[in-house]
Amino acid sequence: MASRSATLFLFLPCILIITFASTSNAYSLEGYPKKVVMNVIDSCRRWKSDWATNRQALADCAVGFGKGAVGGKYGTIYVVTSSADDPVNPKPGTLRYGVIQTEALWVIFAKDMVIQLKNELIMNSYKTIDGRGVKVEIANGPCITIQDVSHVIIHGIGIHDCKPGKAGRVRSNTTHVGLRGGSDGDAIAVFASSNIWIDHCFLARCFDGLIDVIHASTAITISNNYFSQHDKVMLLGHNDEFTSDKVMKVTVIFNRFGEGLIERMPRVRFGYAHVANNRYDEWKMYAIGGSADPTILSEGNYFVAPNNPNAKEVTKREVKNGWKNWKWRSSGDVFLNGAYFVPSGYGSCAPNYFKAQSFIAASGAMVPALTASAGPLQCVVWNAC
Ligand SMILES: *[C@@H]1O[C@H](CO)[C@@H](O)[C@H](O)[C@H]1NC(C)=O
Repeated sequence: MASRSATLFLFLPCILIITFASTSNAYSLEGYPKKVVMNVIDSCRRWKSDWATNRQALADCAVGFGKGAVGGKYGTIYVVTSSADDPVNPKPGTLRYGVIQTEALWVIFAKDMVIQLKNELIMNSYKTIDGRGVKVEIANGPCITIQDVSHVIIHGIGIHDCKPGKAGRVRSNTTHVGLRGGSDGDAIAVFASSNIWIDHCFLARCFDGLIDVIHASTAITISNNYFSQHDKVMLLGHNDEFTSDKVMKVTVIFNRFGEGLIERMPRVRFGYAHVANNRYDEWKMYAIGGSADPTILSEGNYFVAPNNPNAKEVTKREVKNGWKNWKWRSSGDVFLNGAYFVPSGYGSCAPNYFKAQSFIAASGAMVPALTASAGPLQCVVWNAC
C-alpha cells in the first residue's frame, strides 16, 4: 500500500484529468470521450478556450531540452493569407515572407491551405508556425529547413510527401539570398540550431527523413507528433565522425509512431536522447537505434513489436562490436507482442534537466491515453482544443 501511494504521488504532477461537462464543450459531444487524460505539455494550455486570443502562451508549455524555445512569443502575429510561394522574393501574406523576417513573429493562417513550396523553406530565428484553428499542410514539394538559427516552434501542422529541393537561389532572411545545393527531402531538417520545439504535427511519407537534427543542434523537444508511413523517421546526428554532435540534447516525448514506419524512432549518433512516453504501434526493422556512442534513456514508452519474429528487438546498434559501454537504458517501458530492449553501459543515464525543463515521465501503461491526441489538434474558437 505504501509503495502504491508513493507511485501515485509521483504520477499526479504529470497528468491532468479533465471531465468536460457534456453541454459546455463541443468536443465532449463530437467524439471526445468525456474524460480526457492530458499529458504534461497539453495540460498547460489545451483545456483553455482562449487559445485563439492568447496564442503566444503556448510558448511556455514545452518540457524537456526544448523548454527554452520562445519562438515568436515576444513578437506580433503574422497571418498567412496565401498558399503561394516564391523562394527568392516572397510576397507579403505568404508563409515564406513571414518566416524570413528578422523580427520575432508568431505565424498563423487565415484559412485551411495546402502549401506546396517551390524550394526549401529556410526559417529565421524567433518564429512560431501555429496551425491551430485551421488545417495547414506543407506538402508535395520541399519542406522546412532550420539552419544556423534559434528559437523556433512548429505546432499543429501537417508536413508530408516532402520532395528534395532543387539547387538554386533561396532567401534565408530579408537581406540574404543563398545559393543552395538542393535539400534532401526531409519534412524538417535542423542544422546547427538550438531551442527548437516541434509539437502536435503530422509527419509522413517524405523522400528522406521526417525529422533530421544534425550539426551540433541542441536544446530540442519533439513532442505530441503523429508519424506514419515512412522509412527513416528521425535521425539525431550528422555522421559517425561528426563529434561536435556530442553537445546534442533532444527530448522525444508523447509522440505516436503509427503505422507503416520502418526504423529510426530515433537513430542517435552522439549526444543524449531522452525518449519518453511515446507510443510505438509497430516497426519493420527497429525502433531505437544508434551508432557512435550515444546515450539514450528510454523511459515509460509503450512498445508494440511487429509480428515478424525477427524484428522483436526495440534496439539496434549499427556496429558489430564496441557498443557494450554505450549507455542505453530502459526504465518503466511497456513491452508488448514480444518486444524487448537490449540495454548497455554503466552509470547514470539521467537527463539532468534544469528545473524548468524537468518532468516526471508517466507510467508506460498510461501512454495510449497520453498520446491519443498526437498530431494536429482540432481547435475551435472559444472551445478547448
Ligand atoms: C542573413 O543570412 C546571412 C547568411 O546566413 C547572414 O550572414 C546574415 O547575418 C543574416 N542577416 C540577418 C539580418 O539575419
